Amino acid sequence: ETSLKGKDLLTLADWKADEINQILKYALQLKKENQPKQLLAGKTLGMIFEKSSTRTRVSFEVGMLQLGGHALHLSSRDIQMGRGESIADTAKVLSRYLDAIMIRTFNHEIVEELALHADIPVINGLTDDYHPCQVLADLMTILEYKSSFAGKKLAYIGDGNNIAHSLMIGSAKVGLDCTIVTPENYEPKAEIVSKAQEIAKASGAKILVTTDLEKGIQNADIVYTDVWASMGWEDEANERLKAFKEYQVNSKTLSVAKSDYIFMHCLPAHRGEEVTGEIIDGTHSVVFDEAENRLHVQKALLASVL
Ligand code: CP
Ligand code: NVA
Repeated sequence: ETSLKGKDLLTLADWKADEINQILKYALQLKKENQPKQLLAGKTLGMIFEKSSTRTRVSFEVGMLQLGGHALHLSSRDIQMGRGESIADTAKVLSRYLDAIMIRTFNHEIVEELALHADIPVINGLTDDYHPCQVLADLMTILEYKSSFAGKKLAYIGDGNNIAHSLMIGSAKVGLDCTIVTPENYEPKAEIVSKAQEIAKASGAKILVTTDLEKGIQNADIVYTDVWASMGWEDEANERLKAFKEYQVNSKTLSVAKSDYIFMHCLPAHRGEEVTGEIIDGTHSVVFDEAENRLHVQKALLASVL
């Protein structure tokens, strides 16, 4: 086992495949044990939120408590950062009080800046470009349902957003084939696709991007979608409804997936938009296990980096 103490989690690209697998294994063990453990007694996590959150906030807060520590919710509406105090000063001050910082924000560079100036681990709780904690929970859920990654295919349908980016990177690391299907003009960022394809050379994972829905979803073991207008893109919601219309995950779209496919969604979901109620509330859906696993995987992460 490698020590992960002191490590930041800004994107999964910064972590070795072994380190990711170690967290997943630990998370599965913590879930199975289902016992409070005083691994982080007296430790504190500050959670800076510049965007809304249900799962990330509650799972980190409850996770810290279950490990004997404490979490502080720091809304950017309340802290001085929201009034213009610099990221660097915020990082230096918080490092004197806390043991780790989790941050959810817009521009990914804010997280990098915070990590640069903080002396304590910084965890990315979602940026416009990445959502690594979500993908750790997703990989854990895939292991639970599909036992392994090799030879399995994940098809992500929808916006080439933070979730798509992190799924590509995470899949590339662990050796899961990943196809991102988007409408034209909503593809994932080219530099992140290249980065994922570069990483995939070591694992052998196939990382593909296409606008062809049927080809993308063909033989998928895992079908994943996310909202069409992410936080920060609300102004484009109507335009996006039109652009994404043909890319809804429904029983027709899914007819070419493997018969034992699982359906995943990071949540929150918009039934009738990116997915029908029939599918997300149907027998193939694992979305609530996926949400639960945020708790287990983040406990494993916190216990490892602290
Ligand atoms: N999936 C996810 O991160 O959910 P929240 O926005 O509710 O935290
Ligand atoms: N892509 C979504 C994910 C929410 C968890 C967003 O950024 O709003």
